[in-house]
Amino acid sequence: MSSSTILLVLLTLALILRTSFGAEPLQHFCSNSETFTAQYPYASNLKTLITTLIAYTPPTGFGLSITPDPNQNQTAFGLALCRGDTSASECKACLSEATKELLSFCPHHKGGIIWYDYCMFKYNNTAFFGKIDNKNGFIRSTLKSVSDPETFNRKTKQLLSMLAQRAYGNSKFYASGKLELQKPETLYGLIQCSRDLSSIDCKECLQEAINRFPVHVSRVVVGGGIVGGSCNFRYELYPFFNIN
Ligand SMILES: *[C@@H]1O[C@H](CO)[C@@H](O)[C@H](O)[C@H]1NC(C)=O
Ligand SMILES: *[C@@H]1O[C@H](CO)[C@@H](O)[C@H](O)[C@H]1NC(C)=O
Repeated sequence: MSSSTILLVLLTLALILRTSFGAEPLQHFCSNSETFTAQYPYASNLKTLITTLIAYTPPTGFGLSITPDPNQNQTAFGLALCRGDTSASECKACLSEATKELLSFCPHHKGGIIWYDYCMFKYNNTAFFGKIDNKNGFIRSTLKSVSDPETFNRKTKQLLSMLAQRAYGNSKFYASGKLELQKPETLYGLIQCSRDLSSIDCKECLQEAINRFPVHVSRVVVGGGIVGGSCNFRYELYPFFNIN
């Protein structure tokens, strides 16, 4: 083997190892308004909150928790959500990593949110359960030229609308699926809402996200999506989730 082949093998191996542990955060935000010091009860309330969420979330993939405090502004609220196709152990591994990383990214911040491919974790000292989060979010997109952009964009919307309908219509608020394009291409998509929302709010959150997603006509978005605090979707020209 030449040295460049060995290097390639090593790089590939590193990539496989990295993605199988899912250890790369996609994005995070810290609330910048209020902070706390290590002496405040908030630091220990947050620890309790995280331990509870890591213990109770993995079996269902969704968890909400409150660590109350006599002083109301020290009460910690937390939400954990794993992607609908993750196993309990993948969910737990992702949340353990996510909570640890977010606390190190946002030391002393009273609120924060972090996303990975497999999970999301959010905390705050104000109640946020059951409300559509339209503050936190970001867009992922890979642009490329395709032979028939109009058809491609139409098919994308078609897949997303179909998946959205299925997602807000089932109790897991999750749907994945595929749509055949011109051979040999296939579009794979997944869509999910946080389960503290009502079905109506899930629908609204997804519709808003799909409408907000940019539509390009020269180089189209061949992969990407919107990752939000209450709902998300993603599509790619390759399978990126477990089809069960
Ligand atoms: C939060 O509680 C602390 C301790 O009682 C107090 O000093 C602080 O002013 C409170 N902050 C707000 C925003 O109410
Ligand atoms: C935490 O709550 C505050 C007040 O409602 C809000 O401004 C902030 O954006 C929240 N942080 C996150 C990460 O959602």
